[in-house]
Amino acid sequence: MSVHDMVIYQVYPKSFYDSTGSGVGDLRGVIEKVAHIASLGVDMVWFNPFFVSPQRDNGYDIADYYAIDPAMGTMADFEELVAALDAHGVGVMLDMVLNHTSTEHEWFRRALAGEAAYQDFFFIRPGVDGHPPNNWVSKFGGSAWAPFGDTGDYYLHLFDVTQADVNWHNPRVRDEMAKVVEFWRGKGVRGFRFDVINLIGKPADLPSAPEGTDDRAMYTDGASVHEYLRELAARSYGLDPDSVTVGEMSSTSVEACVQYSNPDNDELSMVFNFHHLKVDYRDGQKWTLMPFDFAELKRLLMDWAVRMQEGGGWNALFWNNHDQPRALDRFADPVGHRYESATMLATVIHLLRGTPYVYMGEEIGMTDPEYTAIGDYVDVEAINAYAALVASGMSDADAFAIVHSKARDNARTPMQWSPEAHGGFTTGTPWLRPTNHERINVADEEASGRILPYYRALIRLRKTHPLIAEGTVEPFALDHPSVLAYLRRHGEQQLLVLANFYGEPTSLAIPDAFVGGEILIANDPSAEPPASAEVLLRPYEALAIRIPSQPQGEQS
Ligand code: GLC
Repeated sequence: MSVHDMVIYQVYPKSFYDSTGSGVGDLRGVIEKVAHIASLGVDMVWFNPFFVSPQRDNGYDIADYYAIDPAMGTMADFEELVAALDAHGVGVMLDMVLNHTSTEHEWFRRALAGEAAYQDFFFIRPGVDGHPPNNWVSKFGGSAWAPFGDTGDYYLHLFDVTQADVNWHNPRVRDEMAKVVEFWRGKGVRGFRFDVINLIGKPADLPSAPEGTDDRAMYTDGASVHEYLRELAARSYGLDPDSVTVGEMSSTSVEACVQYSNPDNDELSMVFNFHHLKVDYRDGQKWTLMPFDFAELKRLLMDWAVRMQEGGGWNALFWNNHDQPRALDRFADPVGHRYESATMLATVIHLLRGTPYVYMGEEIGMTDPEYTAIGDYVDVEAINAYAALVASGMSDADAFAIVHSKARDNARTPMQWSPEAHGGFTTGTPWLRPTNHERINVADEEASGRILPYYRALIRLRKTHPLIAEGTVEPFALDHPSVLAYLRRHGEQQLLVLANFYGEPTSLAIPDAFVGGEILIANDPSAEPPASAEVLLRPYEALAIRIPSQPQGEQS
């Protein structure tokens, strides 16, 4: 199988299904819900980390790479889960957090205890005149440096203070990380998602960012990342044709992503980038409110599609994940047009060049929770941001409005299985509260919903039409104010994909060749092949038209 015709489903284990009543999801809970996952027709499940962790950053602070967090289950549960998915032909993708470890990891504890060999596993530096070693800031707020015990030195943490950055320049670190990957491969795991992996090539001298410049440029996509990835690949997944790897790339560039994902470079199968999900950041700042910039969204999606294609790279395609508020709330209308919005957004991603990812709950049109108080949120990032906004003089109400729309907890609320208490997620008290499960849940979708069947149909299309998996992509009608459109071509076939991002009807001119073309998929079941070159689109309508219809040798 090629990654080109794959679709990957993301499970946030803490919020998927709780089999014990603890209020926290677990691996046996996932086993109980394997039928739902398999019914989508996906090829692999990416699990957010469930390794031993103090959970300061919900498992992205790993204290032991080789063991399952007892709150999530046991190694035997994991092995059973792999087998249960495998029985449906579904593979497992694990989340490898190799840029940093928890400060509770043995390596850090031994470093703190004074073992020089382990101190070289981290970035530990003396301060400068009583200040941290450089001016980098943590992505979760404040300085990126914290005191290293009572030594007077500091250690680097680009994320939470309990997430110490690991020194990849140390060959022993690289040995250890390759061993971690090999261990999980030994358990039958063939997929790996590498967390913020483009941060492992920081320059060893850790220079301050020049006044007035963005410190991220100092440590992102550093020169040695590529070398370290090639080395990791060569020691583990690189020789296995069944392996699937995706790098999470923080604040990256197309050029770097081409390099990471062009198969000739032997680094990764594909990359996540986030530029298209910053189009509602005012002045590039996340903790602000701004309506999304549609022209910019379109420009970014199309620019990445085209330039990754030109460079032979491969994109992971997604709207949602555990770090992003629900796309339905950000880019469309979750209230008046929930079905149309959810299916329109899905159409855009699933018919594009790349590998689509479906984040749990997306397939039933889950939305952000309807929280009313700051106490409803638990994420360290949201709590820090709220405090910082209020400290900057903003009113509680304004700060709350921002957290309400931007918090990562928006995506992390439990999967809504049924209209019953807590969405049927737990019999206990959920660690994060669902709010609209009475209206939005799997049971109702299965019985009479239209979003779930549409996702299944989209996923099937990629598997039955090489045009979608392998075709080239080119933007269409880039200047249209409300429609995102693109063309795919493969041999004689062409596909025109149209998506109206707004709640008003609109029209656009399509090439004559598509008049009378076959509707491959449409979120309006009454859609007909276009009778003229002027196509009318209803609110949030999405439509894919193929010519020639029914090519030889392919039945849809
Ligand atoms: C990635 C993860 C995010 C985590 C961060 C630090 O961005 O997706 O959830 O907080 O890395 O590991």
